[in-house]
Amino acid sequence: MSVDTTLTGTEIRARFLDFYASQGHVKMPSSSLVPHNDPTVLLTTAGMQQMIPYFLGRETPPAVRMTSSQKCFRTTDIDKVGNQRTLTFFEMLGNFSVGDYFKREAITYAWEFLTKVLHLPADRLHPTVHPEDDEAPQLWQEIAGYADEAIVRLDENWWGPPGASGPCGPDSEIYYDRGVAYGCGQADCKPGCECERFLEIWNLVFMQFYQDLDGSRTPLPRRNIDTGMGLERLTMVLQGKESVFDTDLLRTIIDRFATITETPYGRDAKSDTSLRVIADHGRSLVFLAADGVLPSNEGRGYIFRRILRRAVRHGKLLGLDKPFLAEAANTVIDLMGDYYTELKTQRERIIEVLSLEEKKFSQTLNTGLSLLNDLLQDLKQRQQSTIPGEEVFRLYDTHGFPVELTQEIAAEQGFSIDASGFEQSMQRQQERSRAGASNTFAQAQDDRALTEILQRHGTTEFLGYDGLVGSSKVIALVVNGEEVSAISAPQRALVILDKTPFYAESGGQIGDHGDLSSPMGNFQVQDTRRPLKGLIVHYGELTEGHLRVGDTVQADVIEQRRADTMRNHSATHLLHKALRDLLGPQVQQRGSLVEPERLRFDFTSPRPLTSADLSHIDGQINEWIRANYPVQTKIMPIHDAMDTGAMALFGEKYDDIVRVVSMGSSIELCGGTHCATTGQIGSYITVQETSIAAGIRRIEALTGRAADAYLRQRRETVERIASLLQVQTDQVETRVEQILQDLTAARRQITHYQRNEAQAQALSLIQQAQDIAGIPVIAATVSAPDAKVLRDMGEMLRDKVPQGVVVLASDLGERIALQVNIDPALTKRGLNAGKLAGAVGERLGGKGGGRPDSAQGGGKDKTAIEPALELAKAFVRDNLK
Ligand code: SER
Repeated sequence: MSVDTTLTGTEIRARFLDFYASQGHVKMPSSSLVPHNDPTVLLTTAGMQQMIPYFLGRETPPAVRMTSSQKCFRTTDIDKVGNQRTLTFFEMLGNFSVGDYFKREAITYAWEFLTKVLHLPADRLHPTVHPEDDEAPQLWQEIAGYADEAIVRLDENWWGPPGASGPCGPDSEIYYDRGVAYGCGQADCKPGCECERFLEIWNLVFMQFYQDLDGSRTPLPRRNIDTGMGLERLTMVLQGKESVFDTDLLRTIIDRFATITETPYGRDAKSDTSLRVIADHGRSLVFLAADGVLPSNEGRGYIFRRILRRAVRHGKLLGLDKPFLAEAANTVIDLMGDYYTELKTQRERIIEVLSLEEKKFSQTLNTGLSLLNDLLQDLKQRQQSTIPGEEVFRLYDTHGFPVELTQEIAAEQGFSIDASGFEQSMQRQQERSRAGASNTFAQAQDDRALTEILQRHGTTEFLGYDGLVGSSKVIALVVNGEEVSAISAPQRALVILDKTPFYAESGGQIGDHGDLSSPMGNFQVQDTRRPLKGLIVHYGELTEGHLRVGDTVQADVIEQRRADTMRNHSATHLLHKALRDLLGPQVQQRGSLVEPERLRFDFTSPRPLTSADLSHIDGQINEWIRANYPVQTKIMPIHDAMDTGAMALFGEKYDDIVRVVSMGSSIELCGGTHCATTGQIGSYITVQETSIAAGIRRIEALTGRAADAYLRQRRETVERIASLLQVQTDQVETRVEQILQDLTAARRQITHYQRNEAQAQALSLIQQAQDIAGIPVIAATVSAPDAKVLRDMGEMLRDKVPQGVVVLASDLGERIALQVNIDPALTKRGLNAGKLAGAVGERLGGKGGGRPDSAQGGGKDKTAIEPALELAKAFVRDNLK
């Protein structure tokens, strides 16, 4: 059988997974592009990433044989995307053995899949191995019948570790021979050669070592297999295409944009590059957005932003003036959403994220491009070929124009940029902003003193989970960044105690207020914070007497304030859970504020919330409140916590030992203070739901006393409205509807009367037409309610005064409106309504313009109406031929 060139990328992916499933492998879903629980790795680059804990023997895998098609993203070559081969996003097909089979089976399966399932000709396939691996070449001879000399030994056949440390091992790479036509023609051309002939398609890694940070290697507890094959490349080989961009996986997107922009693919090198950029970046952006990445100025967010900006610019090069990323996203989602279902479920959110950033950037791009063009013109004239660093910096700093883009555009036109000059400008800017922030100085002084205190005394014991009062010893006092041994009232200071019931602001919950009192003095705590890990600091003022280091004080947290805060904190957990239950696991907390007065919760959401969603959420939370679940806290290792399914903050690095707070079905990692039971929350009500950024929604809500007060106020408002309307409260809505209907009818009638009145006014003007140079001219002040009616009047008079000129002015309160109508026949005799309106408008202190036969204008100078109308007549006299 020969290769089936009609297989689509999607079918090839399915064949791979099905083949390995038939060999006892469990199909694993792709893990997220954002590596789970590992803020040190930017984005997932290989299928084995989700297998690392299993390879290292730290976690038990769901199965010892697994297979997947993994979403991968490689950032190294972003600027190269646009050529025929580079992709940022790609899919990696892989099979994995965790201590189960090893080299023999890995090679057997790969060989069988390529030659028996895909029917690739054996003589096109060339295995390579690591020079120190004697077993792999033996197996290739046995399994696939290669002669020993046909197996190429390459030093580079070693894979990993993926980061600074991790699993690694020798590998065997399978190359596909595209034929001599692609080759360099050298006699020693073989796999590993730089030329285009031999293409690496599959990497079989024999994962058997752990490499430490210092480079030393130790054997792993078990020997594993990790293989990876790029789906796009494999598809290119099978479909017999020149480039990955010609496979249906990417060509579908290219064709869509070739049609939209009427730029056939393959006609022109420049537009081809732009089409390829849009195809690659379109896929990347959709997948990144689906996995929760949002545009920002650092890390993943910056990669996202950079790619999006590049895509928008290439869209512009193709002549796309209107936003187009939504179209790109829809094409990608239609193409890939059956397998990666997260694309379909989040379609709306993805499009919102892309469109918002696209809109923001388009503006920047237009301004930046025109400035840059001027700059390049200028340099050309002065015969210079380097853009000065300050100019690059100015574009970036003042106009938000990305440096990479300046560089890219400059390079396209044969310019370079002065990178070190740019760096210098950047540094100067940073120094300026440092100098500007004098507050930071005071803070730095405090921090220095506090660091010393922490070193000397260790961390502060927190008593506030169980109580609100305590007897504590004053460990240190800080005034204006200096440690002091005593203070006298009145004096602002920082107080550090050995132990305290005051909660320091963290995890969104604000710090406690209260008093520190001794027989000698009283200190009012106005805020509590933890500027250094483990050190609780009381900020406030000594209002009476003295306070000395060594004093014993009675610490009292204001109870009401803390109780209200705890209600809001516990309610925040219930809200988080209710949102996840309703919208799915894509809901991730992005921020929260827990105050006594209210709570605020920011989260990623696959879609905006409807009012039905909100009432469902309110209902659910209040039900949990009435169920009066006990709130339980446990201290446990982070791994155990994750096993219980505890909700954790996205991207947050947690300590090994964490505190887990659970109430009902909500389990969350949290260091905050909570009610004893959910019943203590009292009641919950959402008061606002808004969008604060693309894909991020914000809920503001009230609990307990604040919720009661809110509902009471609402009720009173309704009662006041009812009494104004003189109906019962349940009749308010019907009555308001009725009033609105009446109002519409009344407005309609007013318009009707105004028209009639305008008509009558207009008709009365006919008699006043003046003869100027043989034509009838009406130049008059009328009273029209708005510009539209004034226009109607002008048109009506034009019809009633054939071969005439009509100039009407009306005082609309804020301004004088002007309407000019000239019989079209007169426009041939030198009269132009637009010009006339311009001249008269100017006389009124404003402007005017329009068509030759009909124009509008206006101004604010009310004293100029009469002279302006005289000017109109003179205009007719002077210009009529
Ligand atoms: N880890 C190897 C790679 O990324 C094989 O999956 O190429």
